[in-house]
Amino acid sequence: MKKYDPKVTSWQINEQDFPRDEDSTEKLKFLLRYAILAPSSHNTQPWKFSIGEDEILIFVDKTRWLKVADSDQRELHVSIGCALENLLIAAEHFGYAHQMTYFPEQGNEELAAVVRFTPQEQTSACRGWSPRWHSWS
Ligand SMILES: Cc1cc2nc3c(=O)[nH]c(=O)nc-3n(C[C@H](O)[C@H](O)[C@H](O)COP(=O)(O)O)c2cc1C
Repeated sequence: MKKYDPKVTSWQINEQDFPRDEDSTEKLKFLLRYAILAPSSHNTQPWKFSIGEDEILIFVDKTRWLKVADSDQRELHVSIGCALENLLIAAEHFGYAHQMTYFPEQGNEELAAVVRFTPQEQTSACRGWSPRWHSWS
């Protein structure tokens, strides 16, 4: 197996590498490999994550906000939504149900969402996919 380095081999994901025999945190960490492949405004990748036992917290990384090009933070939040959607598709693929809360802490604009995961007996067949790079141009 090629050693995973998010800065070098991020697109080289093999679903066979899903750590079935490791603990929940390692499994959720694997799902994040798909989340970080999401498109983002000017490739800013304005997200940060925190992994718990059965949940992932998604934060807006305001240091990556393009204040001039995206003054209303619309693209910033669309980008977060793209990462979130990738995460949910990956979670379903690897057999997790998920429950989401958007901006769970009043006044905390940096914590965009919390996703709680529940392992299911069956994996999802409805969202077939594979990680492929697509350019807009
Ligand atoms: C909210 C948002 C706005 C974007 N706007 C443009 C755009 O105007 N023109 C463009 O070529 N790509 C746009 N993109 C695509 C990103 O530039 C692209 O995802 C990023 O550079 C990474 O490239 P990749 O997705 O091909 O890996 C946008 C992506 C997002 C999420």
